[in-house]
Amino acid sequence: MKNINPTTTKSWHELERLAKDVPSLQHLFAQDKERFNKYHLNFEDILVDYSKNNINDIILKTLLKLAKDVDLDSAIKSMFSGEKINFTENRSVLHVALRKPAEQSLVVDGVDVVKNVHKVLAQMKEFSDQVNSGVWTGFTGKKITDVVNIGIGGSDLGPLMVTEALKPYNKGLKLHFVSNVDGTHIVETLKQCNPETTLFIVASKTFTTQETMTNAQSAKAWLLEHANQDTQAIAKHFVALSTNLKAVSEFGIDTKYAFEFWDWVGGRYSLWSAIGLSIALSIGFDNFAQLLAGAHDVDNHFENTPFENNIPVILALVGLWNTNFLGAQTEAILPYDQYMHRFPAYFQQGNMESNGKYVDRNGEVVNYQTGPIIWGEPGTNGQHAFYQLIHQGRVLIPCDFIAPAITHNPIADHHTKLMSNFFAQTEALAFGKPLNVVVEELKQQGKTEEEIKKLAPFKVFEGNRPTNSILVKEITPYTLGQLIALYEHKIFTQGVILNIFSFDQWGVELGKQLANNIIPELESDKPVTSHDSSTNGLINAYKAWNK
Ligand code: F6P
Repeated sequence: MKNINPTTTKSWHELERLAKDVPSLQHLFAQDKERFNKYHLNFEDILVDYSKNNINDIILKTLLKLAKDVDLDSAIKSMFSGEKINFTENRSVLHVALRKPAEQSLVVDGVDVVKNVHKVLAQMKEFSDQVNSGVWTGFTGKKITDVVNIGIGGSDLGPLMVTEALKPYNKGLKLHFVSNVDGTHIVETLKQCNPETTLFIVASKTFTTQETMTNAQSAKAWLLEHANQDTQAIAKHFVALSTNLKAVSEFGIDTKYAFEFWDWVGGRYSLWSAIGLSIALSIGFDNFAQLLAGAHDVDNHFENTPFENNIPVILALVGLWNTNFLGAQTEAILPYDQYMHRFPAYFQQGNMESNGKYVDRNGEVVNYQTGPIIWGEPGTNGQHAFYQLIHQGRVLIPCDFIAPAITHNPIADHHTKLMSNFFAQTEALAFGKPLNVVVEELKQQGKTEEEIKKLAPFKVFEGNRPTNSILVKEITPYTLGQLIALYEHKIFTQGVILNIFSFDQWGVELGKQLANNIIPELESDKPVTSHDSSTNGLINAYKAWNK
């Protein structure tokens, strides 16, 4: 990978110049009746409309030139070929290998990683089939009914998001996810479970994460308490997903029940690996395989499609345009699909942990914005909560609207109403409502001149708020796999262009370190004086209340 500061390229300068005189969406659409045709892409059952962004041919051409100037092409090749592009951890980045079909191979450091991937997939298939069919039983011989995935960050958000998004495909097991070290999370979950029929999955790449290990210990204690401290029950109720088999065995789980993955799988890119076991249990292995197949399909698209038709590249460039040239600091992801309610949270980690960096690949502090703040909620709930700010606030919030054309729940006219909102919102955000229309409406309502003058300014919508619309025929394991991979590669593309390392996460370390130092201070009786006055004050107040 070349470490090019994007701001030194000609195209970046040209984009800065273009950003000084950006045409409004109203103007762009008025000027060009073919705008939708020009600025949307179809990929199988997914349609991506990016026409409601402040771009035109010259802006798009220059953005595409930027991708060339920083040599995105060779960066893509580097990732797919297994080069160690996770430089600060000296690792390859190969989530794409996790979804390669068995007949392919990819040799990295003398090892065919695809072969190893399919070995674990076969193990996952066998296990998920056994649990779902009832062949696998708990310590009293009863069929498993509940599965508790204990993990955090990438070992939680992906499986949780996917099992929720694909609930219509659930085969019968009840899935629970425990992530927070707050005891409430495990306690409230265990209240819903029967120890004889509950399977725990301890999901942790490192198998050292404080939250996960603490929750796993509490779950183990709960099981043993109900199994008369018979440690043989552990084998029937605990499996582990990890790269650290030594720690798995130290925890007390037989490595026979460990599903391995590898250091080249980033936590936030790991749902395709053994970390996806809870997904396979929930929707069955064949559906899990479909999820992988959809993602692989998009991998091929990303690797082989010219940038102008390459959906992740286009989404990345449009996002960069909004963030680095038009001043947006945030991006909202708004799925119009209740099942996809954790999709924004999943890509909050995906994007912010990947591209939330201030040092570039040369180790220099950057002088441009890197990853945006990602957030969102499902529509239409968000409309009644925070859309006000998107429509009429002073913050530029580019949004991705995502919706399935076909619902899994065709009850009465719910889906028609949902989709009418999906279409209306991006229209309202782009075109707004000008003063003359507001005045005319108020006149029609019989308001006096005086009343109109008073009310009109508040009812004006400026419009010109950029959005992408992603319309999917139906959310299936395959199309969900495609959607996730599209976003993954968007994040990769942005990281390459922004010249940052997207696959490490040093920014999460300091807080962990400090917390570990504070634990003994909280456990001791002595007042604490080792910190700044604020931290000392807070800790001592906490201790006083816990005496
Ligand atoms: O704290 C951040 C992080 O390292 C994430 O990157 C990761 O997804 C999460 O913690 C969980 O890590 P592990 O799977 O090793 O428990």
